[in-house]
Amino acid sequence: MIRIEGLTHKYEGREEEAVNNINLQIKKGESLVVIGSSGSGKSTLLKCINRLIDPTSGKIYIEEKEILNCDIHHATKIRGSIGMIFQEYNLVESESVLKNVLNGRLKYLSTVQTLFGKFSKEDIAIAKENLKVVGLGEYENERVSNLSGGQKQRVAIARALSQNPAVILADEPVSSLDPKLMKEVMDLLTTICKEKGITLITSLHFLEFAKRYGTRIIGMKEGNIVFDGLPEELTEKDIVDIYGKTKEWFLYGKTGF
Ligand SMILES: Nc1ncnc2c1ncn2[C@@H]1O[C@H](COP(=O)(O)OP(=O)(O)OP(=O)(O)O)[C@@H](O)[C@H]1O
Ligand SMILES: [Mg+2]
Repeated sequence: MIRIEGLTHKYEGREEEAVNNINLQIKKGESLVVIGSSGSGKSTLLKCINRLIDPTSGKIYIEEKEILNCDIHHATKIRGSIGMIFQEYNLVESESVLKNVLNGRLKYLSTVQTLFGKFSKEDIAIAKENLKVVGLGEYENERVSNLSGGQKQRVAIARALSQNPAVILADEPVSSLDPKLMKEVMDLLTTICKEKGITLITSLHFLEFAKRYGTRIIGMKEGNIVFDGLPEELTEKDIVDIYGKTKEWFLYGKTGF
């Protein structure tokens, strides 16, 4: 489904590569969790897959199509098939819940429709259906700014689902939430992706979460993949390799949560 070959990215003015010669194949329907200390390259990897940044070198294939060296039309199409979920939700706070979810349908609008912001009845029906899927059917007219963090992240999930995505990339989707909501949101996200056969790539800090929600885990350290395996294969030594004996090891690895 996704094949990454020799992916390297160095930010301008930086000495070290943020991701360094990453090779990775991700199967359809997999729930891949990326773990690693702050600065290890998790977000950079996800952003390269979504083309939010252009890597310095390497190739990324999605369903056998190279995504980095393609024309703008194809690039737009690929980006449209990838749903993104961010730690800080990235919603339009002053707009209604429904309007935000409809933004996931933008790629399906014609140019004329885009100019006038006109969504079809079908788009609206899809958005409403996805709001029901995330349990917010009653909230469609509510302003996003009036919602709790957990509700906001559910709106972001509904928006991503409305793109009818093949892949969802979730960069620390629960890091702004309290532990109970973290679990609720991750349960929802992984269950929906499993049901719909959506490939899910999530970066997470807490190891217990990674093991619980990943069908596969990769551990990153200083831009490299230092672990790639099943959750049950992750040993105490791997955890030390990934985090080093830093405060993050104590916080996320050793004590779990
Ligand atoms: N816009 C940027 N400009 C320059 N350097 C950057 C930029 N974004 C990230 N970096 C650097 O690239 C490296 C990898 O950062 P990245 O954000 O991918 O890490 P991360 O694993 O997502 O960390 P965190 O857990 O804190 O989100 C770090 O050394 C970071 O300082
Ligand atoms: Mg990050």
